[in-house]
Amino acid sequence: MPASTQDYLYDASLLPQELAALLPSGLTLRPLASSDYARGHLQLLTHLTSAPDVGQDTWTARFKELQAVNAAVPSYFPVVIVEDESDRLVGHACVFLERKFLRNAGLCGHIEDVVVDPRMQGKKLGLKLIEVLTVMSEHLGAYKTILDCDPKNEAFYAKCGYENKGCEMARYK
Ligand code: ACO
Repeated sequence: MPASTQDYLYDASLLPQELAALLPSGLTLRPLASSDYARGHLQLLTHLTSAPDVGQDTWTARFKELQAVNAAVPSYFPVVIVEDESDRLVGHACVFLERKFLRNAGLCGHIEDVVVDPRMQGKKLGLKLIEVLTVMSEHLGAYKTILDCDPKNEAFYAKCGYENKGCEMARYK
């Protein structure tokens, strides 16, 4: 059964409808919904990185945390692509807004957790996700939108209009 709009993490009107409408038929682009654990959200993310099954309760608790954050200050905007026939998620990406003091107390959009189900790769869904998030980030007021990626994905992001501005640094615990 499709997710209800009331279950969305944020108002779907924030999505650029003209871009969302350009998906191939049989696919729907929408905000992450509270029922998406059952649609394979975590299984999809395993095609990006380690995303073990934390269970429905922990997943829902995290969803509610993000809902509370968004209710206070709209910040997290995960977008998913649903395959209508199977009612499974086949694409996911998120933009979150960092609130800065600099740049006239500006906003910076960070794109994270971009993944397309291997079965659906090569159909321009990744490109669509990045287009949608970039437009959202800019409509929400970000003066720039940035992301970190593996060098093997640099050509993909270049095709999405992004350019290499340096290197990513990380320190894992
Ligand atoms: N290297 C070079 N070119 C690429 C790559 C790549 N790795 N991936 C896609 N492209 C090209 C395509 O050939 C296409 O080119 P064209 O317009 O000339 O035909 C264009 O980029 C758009 O490709 P899409 O079909 O939109 O890409 P897809 O839907 O397959 O999604 C993605 C790309 C998201 C990288 C997918 O391969 C994937 O999920 N990979 C595994 C997870 C991953 O690495 N995600 C990125 C993490 S970085 C982050 O989250 C910020």
